[in-house]
Amino acid sequence: MNINGKHYRTIWTAPNGRGAEIIDQARLPHEIVIAPLDTLEDAAIAIETMQVRGAPCIGATAAYGMFLGIAEDPSDAGLERAQTRLAKTRPTAVNLAWAIDEITKAVAALPEEERAVAALARAEEICDEDVEISRAMGEHGLKLIEAIAAKKSGPVNILTHCNAGWLATVDLGTATAPIYLAHEKGIEIHVWVDETRPRNQGASLTAFELGAHGVPHTIIVDNAGGHLMQHGKVDLCIVGTDRTTRAGDVGNKIGTYLKALAAHDNNVPFYVALPNTTIDWSIRDGVKEIPIEERGSQEVTQMTGRLPGGDVVTVDIAAAGSPAANYAFDVTPARLVTGLITDRGVAEASEEGLLKLFPERR
Ligand code: MRU
Repeated sequence: MNINGKHYRTIWTAPNGRGAEIIDQARLPHEIVIAPLDTLEDAAIAIETMQVRGAPCIGATAAYGMFLGIAEDPSDAGLERAQTRLAKTRPTAVNLAWAIDEITKAVAALPEEERAVAALARAEEICDEDVEISRAMGEHGLKLIEAIAAKKSGPVNILTHCNAGWLATVDLGTATAPIYLAHEKGIEIHVWVDETRPRNQGASLTAFELGAHGVPHTIIVDNAGGHLMQHGKVDLCIVGTDRTTRAGDVGNKIGTYLKALAAHDNNVPFYVALPNTTIDWSIRDGVKEIPIEERGSQEVTQMTGRLPGGDVVTVDIAAAGSPAANYAFDVTPARLVTGLITDRGVAEASEEGLLKLFPERR
């Protein structure tokens, strides 16, 4: 998608072909900084510190991280070192393990001298595939928006949580893909953007990217969604996910579950957009089996923002010494999900619903 009229992906091969470059998302929306990933450690740190984030973008970065690790040491020991280092960066998004596995499959049978080239080729392919997947999800989700637009006058009001936008993928996004396609088609859209404490991915990333594309939107505090739904101001919720179980339980940014409960109570359709790479076919019960990342307490007790003079600073918002807990994700049970927007179509949020679209997983 575009920033200041220039097209970007979130990650791409560096011009010298020996590494990758990313948009440093920890610096958005105040600064647009391109950061190099020259080593396996650079890629691992970029994921840990959330210079890149969002399940598909984490997967793409892990794929480049595997390439960088293999370029550093193409032996089996080197491959294992890259797998181990990347696997421990963030626990919830299953795309991470998926991408590590894809690169491993692409190189394992090759002689050492051919591994780095093959790893880079597969990493680039994963990125291209991710864009195609986002487009397919967009087309399927667009039909849902069109159906609502046909029945009402005025804008279709869509609530989204966190950033499941193009910055969370390689391009286009998951939850935002149908929104961008609807906007391109001239359908009147308005997006309620949950700010998404503690890291504010909604306020700092989703609002930034919607604004850059001229999509009307309003940032709301995380607790406002229920009130808006009670007053008929939300037609549809669309969120992303970091790991969806084969039974349709959805792990996503903390607070998603509360939005789904409010949507259920107010008969607001609640959809989750996900690429097939985000389905964890090995588990069913999301509450018991999806690993929930716990991050540092300072993300809760501090906030970062820009002063009027332009300096970006971090300030304390809690009394010194107050303990804080920082659960980064929660699980929305399938029963609260109206449908799963996948790259193969919209599935009922159930094992049978997913298997109808992915029969090879039976
Ligand atoms: O902690 P983050 O910013 O990586 O969390 C991102 C989310 O929760 C997104 O909603 C999810 O990854 C889906 S992204 C297309």
